[in-house]
Amino acid sequence: MSINPLPLVRVREFEREQAQKISAQERPLFHLTPLVGWMNDPNGFCYYGGQYHLFYQYHPFSRQWGPMHWGHVVSFDLLHWTYQPCALAPDTAADAGGCFSGSAVPLPDGRLMLCYTGVQPAGTFRRETQAQCVAFGDGVNFEKSLLNPVVRHAHLPEGYSEFDFRDPKIWLTEDGSFRMVAGNRHVEKKGTAVLFASQDGLDWQFKGEIDASRGEYGHMWECPDFFPLEGKQVLMVSPQKMQAREEFHAGDGTMAILGTFDDQECRFTRESVQPVDHGLTFYAPQTMQAPDGRRIMIGWMDNWETCKEAPRRHPWYAQMSVPRELFLREGRLCQRPVREMETLWQDTILQEATVAQEEISLLGVQGRLMDMTIQLQTANSACRRFTLRVARDESHFIQIRCDLARGELVFDRSHGGSVRDIAHTRHVKAEPREGQLTLRLLMDKESIELFINEGERVVTSLIPTPLKAEGITFAADAPIQVKVSAHHLG
Ligand code: FRU
Repeated sequence: MSINPLPLVRVREFEREQAQKISAQERPLFHLTPLVGWMNDPNGFCYYGGQYHLFYQYHPFSRQWGPMHWGHVVSFDLLHWTYQPCALAPDTAADAGGCFSGSAVPLPDGRLMLCYTGVQPAGTFRRETQAQCVAFGDGVNFEKSLLNPVVRHAHLPEGYSEFDFRDPKIWLTEDGSFRMVAGNRHVEKKGTAVLFASQDGLDWQFKGEIDASRGEYGHMWECPDFFPLEGKQVLMVSPQKMQAREEFHAGDGTMAILGTFDDQECRFTRESVQPVDHGLTFYAPQTMQAPDGRRIMIGWMDNWETCKEAPRRHPWYAQMSVPRELFLREGRLCQRPVREMETLWQDTILQEATVAQEEISLLGVQGRLMDMTIQLQTANSACRRFTLRVARDESHFIQIRCDLARGELVFDRSHGGSVRDIAHTRHVKAEPREGQLTLRLLMDKESIELFINEGERVVTSLIPTPLKAEGITFAADAPIQVKVSAHHLG
């Protein structure tokens, strides 16, 4: 199989030329956007050569999804990213239809190994197929293996798909052997996560199935991740086309399955299931382990339904979420923005007020670049309904309504300026804990990430609201004491 270096050379020239036309002001402050063109899933999130590396699904030539490349950035703090030249282009027979999602692992010999899905285009007598490929490099340039694809449909037992078989996440075990989890669509069980093992990263064997949808959680599981966290094992997947059930909304979502794993027997025992993010725009998250031991997750701050006809207001399209630290609390997977966020805090406004029926704003608490924590003192208050409106002007607002009596929060961006008939609201559990409900909002121009009760549940949403809408107001049906600490970001 020959490797044609031209496409990558051309892409790199193209992106160098186009990127200089985009100013930093045209981008969010701390959320990653593609160098040029289109971006979807995070790929190859890792720590290598003293820096964080993040790759992403990338179509440099337009702001729409197209033949997939891998974009690449590096960072020391997970918030300021430096663009690198495009890492992978579809330029071999094994990936001529695109280099789909995958992962990266630093090797003991100093190289960085990438693993991704090679899409093989449809031929006269066959549909497009998907198989797993590898490439090795120095953190900037990568050479694809001549053995690609190294994991193909033939590796799988009967019943698994060759058309929906993608998004390998690889890691090294303590004994130095490789593992890979990939998503598949089984003829009966629907979405599944399948596990492979290898001694050298090239020759792989099927080990078994980690878990499956069984028709309950979507028809295909995309972008699996599988990692230990505080004594549990977490399988994280992005199921497609789920019906609403339990805490899951309908459509493409994210799911964490907590359990235990016996590697010898390849047996995963499912203990609990939950959505990873309850928002309108969050999909395909991937995690990595930082050198200080933190398990850090980043996701595509969009999804396939919302992106379809979303306005293309900028010379780039799509953003990643803020990187988040994962932890367990009371058996649930929780998340908080990486602690590096504090380095962006500028002036800090502390306010305390009694909020009642009349809508109020608080001095200095306004803007669209903010890390704001609101504590509602629910104990000893007759308040049943608390309403926060942000990104507000005369005609726009994003509403976060806490129904304290029901222990539910409604995130509603329907007055945010959209003219599209898509989902704009999400209902999510939000119960006061020890007499208080805490909401932390990260606002970065056109997005909001809301962390409820220190990360028990998260609601992520892009907002289409004009940037001049900076107002923030508070109201409640009965008096309630509210503490606000708002850090302006810069
Ligand atoms: C998830 C996904 C992956 C695939 C990639 C293609 O958003 O559909 O399954 O690898 O996007 O860009």
